[in-house]
Amino acid sequence: MKLNIAVLPGDGIGPEVTNQAVKVLKAIASEFDHNFTFKNADVGAIAIDKHNNPLPDETLDLCKSSDAILFGSIGHPKYDNDPSAKVRPEQGLLKLRKELGLFANIRPVKAYDTLLNKSPLKRDIIKGTDISIYRELTGGIYFGKKQLSDDGNVASDLCEYSRYEIERIAHLAFEAAQNRNNKVTLVDKANVLESSRLWRKVVKDVAKNYKDVTLDFLFVDNAAMQMILNPKQFDVILTENMFGDIISDEASVIGGSIGLLASASIGEKYALFEPIHGSFPQATGKGIANPIASILSAAMLLEHFDLFNEAQFIKIAVEKSLKLHISTPDINSKYDTITTSKVGDFIEDFINNPEDSNMNFTNIHLGQSTII
Ligand code: IPM
Ligand code: MN
Repeated sequence: MKLNIAVLPGDGIGPEVTNQAVKVLKAIASEFDHNFTFKNADVGAIAIDKHNNPLPDETLDLCKSSDAILFGSIGHPKYDNDPSAKVRPEQGLLKLRKELGLFANIRPVKAYDTLLNKSPLKRDIIKGTDISIYRELTGGIYFGKKQLSDDGNVASDLCEYSRYEIERIAHLAFEAAQNRNNKVTLVDKANVLESSRLWRKVVKDVAKNYKDVTLDFLFVDNAAMQMILNPKQFDVILTENMFGDIISDEASVIGGSIGLLASASIGEKYALFEPIHGSFPQATGKGIANPIASILSAAMLLEHFDLFNEAQFIKIAVEKSLKLHISTPDINSKYDTITTSKVGDFIEDFINNPEDSNMNFTNIHLGQSTII
């Protein structure tokens, strides 16, 4: 298959982790005889520095003319600490999502057996967790009208949803549930918010088309508690933009590190793949960022084009790396010298040469302990 992939590494650790994902996609292309091409473009704080715009036109044009987008991360402390900044890196990502119509953000959450002891949650509670979060991505409070009074003392953000916006993601969530464990949980705040009551109504209507799927409802405050009390009760979680943002960061605790969680942002026409984590500025350039979220985002990219064997191969390689402790420090208490690119190298090697992977591990590790 021929795929033109736009690579938007972004800020902080974005470039480091995205490099590993590109490396892995190149290994897949050579192993499975595909033709993947990669073109880079700026987004986020780096794009503000270079072009005075967090989403330059050239970047948007490249995305629109590509088959898929691999995104790193955005954000920089100089903007986080300056609430009055008019231009912000995050605007680049939000505009990209809106312009490309990426209305569904799919975030798989899984407890890997080998990492059960990395989570602060009890092993029995998290073992076997397998959740798919469907987060609405182009509506709600993120995109509603924002206002600040002239005297700067009153501010508001409007949370607005239409039936159409709810329906289209609800269908995707129900279809996903049919291929999983046939359960959808709608997370909302329907006891307080009018927009949530519309979500309940519309999702109940959509559910009538999927008789084999059970639909239940949780208020977001309760859902946040249930997520850590008993995450195994969830199959597909369907929710609006901001609740999905919050719940998915919380859910990453189950996996042991936010550095493991990948995502796919899908629209009618375009698709973007990105880790759920941020730009982790303190770690920039140190080689400690976990590249697995980006690598698994690349696997989701392949699944999007029905390249399931290829995606599976990446997942097997990732699990192997976890098992052999070829992991960055966030999840590695055994070896503290495995860097971002070492993890990428191992996964690349495994794909090129699965039989040799144990030997490579020995080499990698010996290399570490003798050279350093
Ligand atoms: C995410 C991020 C973004 C969001 C930020 C960077 C705008 O936190 O993708 O989860 O809030 O959607
Ligand atoms: Mn987030």
